[in-house]
Amino acid sequence: MLKMCGIVGYIGYRDSQPILLEGLKKLEYRGYDSAGVAVFTEHGLEIRKTVGRLSNLEARLREQPLRGTVGIGHTRWATHGKPSVANSHPHTDHTFKVSVVHNGIIENYLELKEELMLKGHRFQSETDTEVISHLIAAEYDGDIVRAVRKAVRKMRGAFAIAVLTEYEPDRLVAVRLASPLIIGVGEGEMFVASDIPAILEYTRDVYILNDGEMAAITRDGVELMTIEGNPIAKEKFHVDWDLMTAEKAGFEHFMLKEIHEQPRAYRDTMRGRIAADGRDVVFPDLGLTPERLREIRRVHIVACGTALHAGMVGKHVIERLTRIPTETDYASEYRYRSPIITPDTLVIVVSQSGETADTLAALREAKRQGARVLAITNVIGSSVAREADDVIITQAGPEIAVASTKAYTTQLIAFYLLGLYWAKALGTLPDEEIARTLAAMQALPEQAERILAQGDDIKALAESIARHQSLFFIGRGLDFAVALEGSLKLKEISYIHSEAYAAGELKHGTLALIEEGVPVIALMTQEELYEKTLSNVKEAKARGARVIGIVSEGLDAEAAKSVDRMFVVPRTLPLLAPALSVVPLQLIAYYAAVTLGHDVDKPRNLAKSVTVE
Ligand code: G6P
Repeated sequence: MLKMCGIVGYIGYRDSQPILLEGLKKLEYRGYDSAGVAVFTEHGLEIRKTVGRLSNLEARLREQPLRGTVGIGHTRWATHGKPSVANSHPHTDHTFKVSVVHNGIIENYLELKEELMLKGHRFQSETDTEVISHLIAAEYDGDIVRAVRKAVRKMRGAFAIAVLTEYEPDRLVAVRLASPLIIGVGEGEMFVASDIPAILEYTRDVYILNDGEMAAITRDGVELMTIEGNPIAKEKFHVDWDLMTAEKAGFEHFMLKEIHEQPRAYRDTMRGRIAADGRDVVFPDLGLTPERLREIRRVHIVACGTALHAGMVGKHVIERLTRIPTETDYASEYRYRSPIITPDTLVIVVSQSGETADTLAALREAKRQGARVLAITNVIGSSVAREADDVIITQAGPEIAVASTKAYTTQLIAFYLLGLYWAKALGTLPDEEIARTLAAMQALPEQAERILAQGDDIKALAESIARHQSLFFIGRGLDFAVALEGSLKLKEISYIHSEAYAAGELKHGTLALIEEGVPVIALMTQEELYEKTLSNVKEAKARGARVIGIVSEGLDAEAAKSVDRMFVVPRTLPLLAPALSVVPLQLIAYYAAVTLGHDVDKPRNLAKSVTVE
């Protein structure tokens, strides 16, 4: 049973149930097919678990509350097997003394389970997690920290766990091995969580555990050590995000809020990275100095999903600005195709969460083969950020909606900044051009605001496509890269089938699918390619397609003659157009999903952060 889940734990002076539930709500994006809590009450260890959304668990706890000041909770996302009460966490051993919540995989759990069964342990579920609680119980001889340590040494895999036992209800134990886990530090109370927003309401001081580290937690303190038992000293990390940024702020959905946050996010991502005279990019902390950049001969951009689509724009940006050959690859494919990695290869991994298992595995493979790795990520202290040689943090702020929006656009901003910085180092772009591009970038936030102000027009477009079975996105060059993202957004949340095609490729087969009334969304923002795309639009129209143009200001008069409907995006440099043209596509996906009545922030079958391969 593999899973990718959210963990939360509390020990302190308050009633733990509401804190655990609030924390789980903030983590629901990590998984939401079942949930549960274990609390130490006056009756001992007590557990409630339910299948389905967290609201089910909430209802259950309203009927039968658990009172106690120490507890652990879990929200689950199954990748194999059915979500069921038996398979939900927390799990316990057969004596009901040790409860465990877990994120990750125990690879050798069947072996361990067999050994335990021979010793008389009886199991209730099909999960690997249940094995952990049994293993800890079997090792227990009066010290829970020692028992956890011994158990963990027998386990193979990638995981984060939190343990609460009836034997020692004044302690929680947390272990991290390759799945994210943090400890929140309060006054007379402590927290455990797989992600910061879960505890942000209560404290801003956290310890970020590294792989192979564990924590013994009491109400008054945290003892940090390696899983071998050696004490470690660690700096606390102070989180300066505002809790409001992690909540909906009056919008109907996180996704809509996050789409609207983009102008702010663009500004934040550029802040401090453009010289005061506006003529240069500065990266104060980047180890990738101009000297180092001059040694790079090839670039591989590796990522998953939306982050890969940002990387596809990044490829155009880097190649155009620096002329360095750049490839893009799915992280899940990269390491299995024996990529040609040389010491002068720069591998750029792109990841909103910084925890995507495929991306992390690709990063490790690239490092193993001697490449220098640059991470573009949104999460400080994430695995990707910590393991890469260099990091550019996008300043999107926490992204909660499963469908990524502001993370994507800030990844584009990061690529523009990087491309210009690099071009300066190589002398591949005149200083005047760099200054002109930076000036155009600084206009993007205000231009994006203008697009957002036209939400109603876009909503009408979305409503016109929402009842269709299938549609196409077409474009050339950068427009094709954006078409891929527009199509993915629509699929993710509206469940409408769509495909993105390089506009010129449509006629080589796929045109057979165009029939009367099929919507085709054509991106036309690139002046050089615009005439060519327009002929592809005409080909589609001749077969009955209903064409919606997403067109840059200045190209609209001509396009108006050929398309059925049109949305005009403000004029910018062609290279920067993706940062604007994607915004109406995000809104089309959003409003189509709303029209169809789908759960926009939590689309079926998907999870925000996929920490299994
Ligand atoms: C999941 C999410 C996608 C996301 C991808 C990469 O599949 O559902 O929205 O684009 O992971 O996530 P990352 O955090 O690495 O950017």
